[in-house]
Amino acid sequence: MNSSTSTQVRTELASGLLAVTLARPDKKNALTMQMYQALVEAFEFASADPSVRVVLLDAEGGDFCAGNDIADFVALAQSGQALHSSDVFRFLRVLASFDKPIVAAVRGRAVGIGTTLLLHCDLVYVAEDARLSTPFVDLALVPEAASSFLLPARIGHVRAFALFALGEILDGRAAVDCGLANAALPAAQVTPRARSAALTLAAKPAQALQATKKLMRDHGRMLAVIEAEGRVFADRLLSPEAQSAFQAFMTRRAPGT
Ligand code: COA
Repeated sequence: MNSSTSTQVRTELASGLLAVTLARPDKKNALTMQMYQALVEAFEFASADPSVRVVLLDAEGGDFCAGNDIADFVALAQSGQALHSSDVFRFLRVLASFDKPIVAAVRGRAVGIGTTLLLHCDLVYVAEDARLSTPFVDLALVPEAASSFLLPARIGHVRAFALFALGEILDGRAAVDCGLANAALPAAQVTPRARSAALTLAAKPAQALQATKKLMRDHGRMLAVIEAEGRVFADRLLSPEAQSAFQAFMTRRAPGT
């Protein structure tokens, strides 16, 4: 793989580094089902191919990722498809089980899964003015991607609750202060810094690198949390309050009105 798997997720392999770039900047890189499918393919390829040492996760444009595409949430709810068999959950499982290092470069907004996927990355570089948020309750949803376990474990219960339930936003410096990112940089330096760190990792002994990551992450626990969250999330997705919140975003009115 050395070209794109989808026009909205680009991949490029060079020097042991698989760059995976979200490329839907006009929609702030909100993730569609097709993009999840492309991400699954990219990570499965990265996992299987020994020439890939490290994954660099980046995004085109001024924003990292505005979360799940909300119109796709509505379509998924209407389709009757079981959430756990959707590409969203396939991606979460692949991400949680992935044992090569992932380095992320985050500028602008990172909402919902745009932030929770960072909990599965090993080095995270953010712009000073990046804005990270996980406003699941405002959308009448619940945390996903094992974030109900990983976020409080990383930053403490009360800070995690404020992100999930109050919809608080962390800027880049705050993300570093609470242990969600390695460094906050001027926006133009984020990708170069992440790429340079990723190339440094790619030159390290590959098996020791993977074994280290594996020791640091309890895959079984994370997969169990993802399944438990998924059952609640699937119910929430179908709830009238979630449908109202989605319609509110799509028609730009206050939820519940
Ligand atoms: N799903 C679908 N479309 C989205 C989207 C999402 N999650 N996030 C942004 N977009 C689209 C907007 O509808 C808009 O499309 P349009 O130009 O066709 O109208 C475009 O991306 C630009 O977004 P806009 O809202 O105009 O930009 P903004 O700078 O005013 O606000 C955000 C940026 C990220 C704060 C805002 O888009 C937002 O709140 N998005 C939803 C985030 C969210 O709740 N995600 C789900 C988490 S589980």
